[in-house]
Amino acid sequence: MKNITFTMLKPDSVSKGNIGKIIDKIIQDGFEIVAMKYTRLSIEDASEFYSIHSERPFFGDLISYMTGGPIVAAVLKKENAVEDFRKLIGSTNPLEAEKGTIRNLFADSISENAIHGSDSDENAIIESSFLFEKDEMFQ
Ligand code: RTP
Ligand code: MG
Repeated sequence: MKNITFTMLKPDSVSKGNIGKIIDKIIQDGFEIVAMKYTRLSIEDASEFYSIHSERPFFGDLISYMTGGPIVAAVLKKENAVEDFRKLIGSTNPLEAEKGTIRNLFADSISENAIHGSDSDENAIIESSFLFEKDEMFQ
């Protein structure tokens, strides 16, 4: 069965002009775009989105980074979407990301790492709901 994952092309991907190249890789890897939006996260949205990290030392920097410019958010569909997408984006730290992964190709550092991917089916739905209506998420 096909399921969904949620992604954000983070502000560094937008400012470096990498949106097209990254979306191309996602499509070439077999993901179908269900919904997509060019937008900017408010401090409230970013804080809620990353609330699991609120006690971490990097939280302040993470919120400044994620709200520092526009992002591209999307809901993607594929068999095994969550796991396959995490494989496609690579490790959080681009220095550890496998060759050819999106973070290996486009990320500068562990903090500014180009792209987000959901870590579970449940979170994919919760995260998609931040930016998309139910009728946009399930097409
Ligand atoms: P994401 O949630 O954005 O897909 O990234 P992830 O699962 O690979 O990594 P996670 O542990 O959830 O961390 C969320 C984001 O916080 C920033 N970060 N900075 N300076 C640091 O040590 C550090 N560690 C994490 C990154 O932007 C990371 O993607
Ligand atoms: Mg995460």
